[in-house]
Amino acid sequence: MKDLLQINNLTKAELLSLLDKAGVVKSSPADYYSSLSHKTLLMIFEKPSLRTRLSFEAGMTQLGGHAIFYSMENSPMGKKESVADTARSASRFCDIAMFRANEQSMIREFAENASIPVIDALSDNAHPCQALADLLTMREKDKDPSKAKICYLGNGNNNVTFDLIRAGALLGNPITVGCPQGSYDVPQRIVKEVNGAVHISHSASDAVRDADVVYTDTWLNYGILREDLDLHINLLKPFQVNASTMAMARPDAIFMHCLPAMRGYEVTSDVIDGPRSVVFDQAENRLHSQKALMLFLLGL
Ligand code: CP
Ligand code: NVA
Repeated sequence: MKDLLQINNLTKAELLSLLDKAGVVKSSPADYYSSLSHKTLLMIFEKPSLRTRLSFEAGMTQLGGHAIFYSMENSPMGKKESVADTARSASRFCDIAMFRANEQSMIREFAENASIPVIDALSDNAHPCQALADLLTMREKDKDPSKAKICYLGNGNNNVTFDLIRAGALLGNPITVGCPQGSYDVPQRIVKEVNGAVHISHSASDAVRDADVVYTDTWLNYGILREDLDLHINLLKPFQVNASTMAMARPDAIFMHCLPAMRGYEVTSDVIDGPRSVVFDQAENRLHSQKALMLFLLGL
């Protein structure tokens, strides 16, 4: 395997061993301080980021390597230069690349023409790095992702949701998605991709009942205009995670969110800032799991 474009590019065994490795890298960071010395990570961004940018760059520093931030705003790629030529040139300077793009088709084209490993760092179709950090966090909180009831509430037509669905299918423990019908429903292509291994409910209360993990993501994805969200917000409102939602989950359920969050929209402040929220552990685990991922893709 060369690239990680979605979480199910990994086999179940690879995923489990990567999560084990992430735990080891997290507990003994000093053992890896020179693992990627003289290696360079290229980070291409077409969309904004806080966690992905910082965690990859800090991770590369901690592994003894170097990371280059490259914004598509200042790039000829896709305008004056083909994606393929960009990938071929970049492969001559860099050892590994991560790419955040509007459309995964562009990342795929880059990966097909690159001779170095390429990671999808969020696109319309996936967010595998987020899924890795999420699974690591669930494990640490004694919510084994192979067994726990994981309930995602909100926009089912969403990159983060897709990779959580794929992860559940891969681990043999389909997740539950509570979402509105229509444009925020899980697309049939994703249901087909996982051979139906996802539980979808259009009732938030049915979906969240007895959940061990309650997960949501923003209703305002990067690139969506606030006015467009406002037009549809009534559809999403029943799927907000608030105190009454959490009361329907198991008493020891945790709350997860990939961030960035909009308090008062997909989640209320009392929940995200409350004792059951693990969102900053989740954010931190981006660092550890991506360090393990880069080591894995580079065969180390
Ligand atoms: N969760 C996540 O990917 O955050 P950023 O958009 O800040 O990178
Ligand atoms: N679904 C969100 C995730 C942000 C990390 C988005 O695409 O903007």
